[in-house]
Amino acid sequence: MPPRFTPLMASLPSTVPFVGAETIERRRGRPFRARIGANESVFGPSPKALAAMAAAGSTSWLYGDPELFEMKAALAAHHGVRPENIVVGEGIDGLLGLVVRLFVEKDTPVVTSFGGYPTFDYHVAGHGGRFVRVPYVDDRENLEGLVEATICEAAQLLYFANPDNPMASWWSAGEVEAAIARLPEDSLMILDEAYGEFAPEGVLPKVDPDDPRVLRFRTFSKAHGMAGMRIAYGIGAPEVTRAFDKIRNHFGVSIVAQAGALAALADQEWLTSVIDRVNRSKARIAEIAAENGLVALPSATNFVTVDCGRDGDFAKAVLDGLIERDLFVRKPWTPPMDRCIRISAGNDADLDLLAAALPGALADAAKTVGG
Ligand SMILES: Cc1ncc(COP(=O)(O)O)c(C=O)c1O
Repeated sequence: MPPRFTPLMASLPSTVPFVGAETIERRRGRPFRARIGANESVFGPSPKALAAMAAAGSTSWLYGDPELFEMKAALAAHHGVRPENIVVGEGIDGLLGLVVRLFVEKDTPVVTSFGGYPTFDYHVAGHGGRFVRVPYVDDRENLEGLVEATICEAAQLLYFANPDNPMASWWSAGEVEAAIARLPEDSLMILDEAYGEFAPEGVLPKVDPDDPRVLRFRTFSKAHGMAGMRIAYGIGAPEVTRAFDKIRNHFGVSIVAQAGALAALADQEWLTSVIDRVNRSKARIAEIAAENGLVALPSATNFVTVDCGRDGDFAKAVLDGLIERDLFVRKPWTPPMDRCIRISAGNDADLDLLAAALPGALADAAKTVGG
């Protein structure tokens, strides 16, 4: 007899939302030459964060502070909120799992975008929630549609990424603030700002940190270049952040991650320099796309979504061609966004490889798919 999983667990497939670059490398039997597919930061962490993490290595026999006291104090000071407004966890992905667990049980309606960030859906599925999926409009999340659906379904949870993955699109601060004002009193918007540091002026909304209807997430994985350390945080009303203490993995954020994140937060100069390099890199990706007759969509993130100009099969063939040429890139999978590929900001060598590989990948795709 197999072990008796819950009916929900027995019904779910054993798959994670993303195929890792390493998995593809193992399949291919050779490493990638450019890793510009997971929206990591090729520019790495601040040298000060690196030094802090190296120093913390010798203390890694210790559990990290389970209350994350210093981390919360530093984040609170940085954002002009109180430590009670902060919850810290193992990446936004980890925090998403917890927030879903706090609000979702079997058949709880949950509002999200059709084709949005799949890890949120993964957690909702893991708790048996009922999806209310709102399609993108013009390659952007449908913010009004998301709010309407939340009201109509009396949904507890609404997920909204601003700026967004996979389309790199955004809504203005004023528009997000107006959407929040319309939210029912007993609903919670998860405002995923994983790419917040890259957003142009006027995108990040002003939100009352004590408004129990909004929980905004930020991460050290993107602009701070620490995806492998697994540390991110939420800013929300104390009654919401406190609830995480019922279920969070209290030693989940390592002592090394805490030390690195503290130093990274203090090094705003490095952050500015990374954002600058990301912007230059994105401009070059757009140029490479244009040289190949493709259109780069506007981006408020650390990646560029490139419209391959045809359907999903064609874009998949282009992606395969780039992977064949040793470039790790990804693509959206939901129509009509699946006509695009998604390229993370890279360094000059990465983008030289992209420039060299793209014409061949496009030519091969045209042969495979026809036309
Ligand atoms: C919208 C969005 N949210 C969250 C994450 C994951 O963040 P973390 O590394 O903090 O789990 C990503 C990573 O690609 C993302 O695109």
